[in-house]
Amino acid sequence: MSFFGGRSGTSNPEIVAILDVGSSKTVCLIGRVEPDLGVRILGAGSHASAGLKCGAVVDMQLAEQSIRQAVQKAEEAAKLAISSVVVNISTRSLRSRHIHVDTKISNAEVTDRDLQRVIDTGLAEFDLPDQAILHALPLNWTVDDERGIRDPRGMFGQMLGVDLHFVTSGVGVLRNLAHCIERCHLRIAGMRASPYAAGSGVLVEDELDLGVTLIDMGGGITTVAVFHDRTLAFVDAVGVGGQNVTSDIATGVTSPWEAAERIKTLYGSALESPGDDQQMVPCPPMGAQDELHHEPLSLVTSIVRSRVEETFEILRDRLKAAGADGFAGRRIVLTGGAAELSGAPQLAEYIFKKRARIGRPHGLVGLPDHMSGPDYAVACGLIKQVLDKKKQIISGPPDLSGNRVRTKRYVGGGLGQSMRWLKENF
Ligand SMILES: Nc1ncnc2c1ncn2[C@@H]1O[C@H](COP(=O)(O)OP(=O)(O)OP(=O)(O)O)[C@@H](O)[C@H]1O
Ligand SMILES: [Mg+2]
Repeated sequence: MSFFGGRSGTSNPEIVAILDVGSSKTVCLIGRVEPDLGVRILGAGSHASAGLKCGAVVDMQLAEQSIRQAVQKAEEAAKLAISSVVVNISTRSLRSRHIHVDTKISNAEVTDRDLQRVIDTGLAEFDLPDQAILHALPLNWTVDDERGIRDPRGMFGQMLGVDLHFVTSGVGVLRNLAHCIERCHLRIAGMRASPYAAGSGVLVEDELDLGVTLIDMGGGITTVAVFHDRTLAFVDAVGVGGQNVTSDIATGVTSPWEAAERIKTLYGSALESPGDDQQMVPCPPMGAQDELHHEPLSLVTSIVRSRVEETFEILRDRLKAAGADGFAGRRIVLTGGAAELSGAPQLAEYIFKKRARIGRPHGLVGLPDHMSGPDYAVACGLIKQVLDKKKQIISGPPDLSGNRVRTKRYVGGGLGQSMRWLKENF
């Protein structure tokens, strides 16, 4: 891909590129970081996905083609070629793991080095070889019995502790995705959990301050992120999405998949209306022999509602079981294409007993109009996160080798990533 006279792209520090690899569509955004402005989108490309399911590659060649197409469209629009990308992760195995680590300090003033040591101890303690750490985020610091400390430096004590939040994913699925992207001659500059990225794309300051639950309703997977005290505090994923709603409609009204997708977008709603019994929905036949038939709208609505309701209930119960509902805030923000289903926010309000809204990307200059919907929240958040270096210990790609010695990765050259994190956060 040297049609623009060689790759400049992400070797130029001002140019940033991301890939949102989804079950329904693959998106590539290329942007330039501009002082006082943020990121200006120079080129955007979107292409229907194939060979991908629930964030996992199921057909290497087809997935590679989808990625190549999206990247090529973005490169042509930006008039430059990219060499590396930050990519989203929305696997079924996306999970949160919280650990508390204490280290002894010398009863003197807490310094950067003490913070680094306690974080590195936490990273070294993580011992699940089949999992990769995508993010490691300090939630709370403690000095002796004092909890909830934002910045322990300058304080005196004997014991320094930290509550660390690890966001992890199964390593096998990440390796396949990484391999597929590398086959497109792209280096992976970072991997970000999708709902975390979506949060950066759509959440407003008040929501981050007060606590909020973001639900990204994609085609093949629904992921959730809880933000508390401006930090990502919890993530989870359920391998169900808008494509399941389509399949349910196809089966329920006996129509082909494509026709069911059209019925869903034209008539689908997660909420009943009084006239639903009277309105009839035209349903194309399965085979050439059959004829177009009609089914009451109430049937379509009940099919849609039961699938969305079930998904929300699973998430609600998982948040509760994990103890995350206690800090999940009073607000739900829905992103992803399936959030556009009519009645989805109202149903979320009913199930979660919180206020709900649809999240649309904001704060990006040059974003094409057709990318301003909730289905572009992840892509936009990924590129906005380039500016938001806060609260990230891991800024490069995660270790996918499966035989990690954690301390090596993070210390990298003495004062490594955790030190950089400290500088950026305090
Ligand atoms: N207007 C609409 N009404 C209902 N559903 C919609 C609408 N627009 C898109 N969808 C659904 O949204 C889903 C795709 O959402 P999205 O583009 O966020 O998925 P993705 O990011 O490719 O997939 P995933 O995140 O699951 O890997 C599809 O199931 C599609 O049918
Ligand atoms: Mg998605």
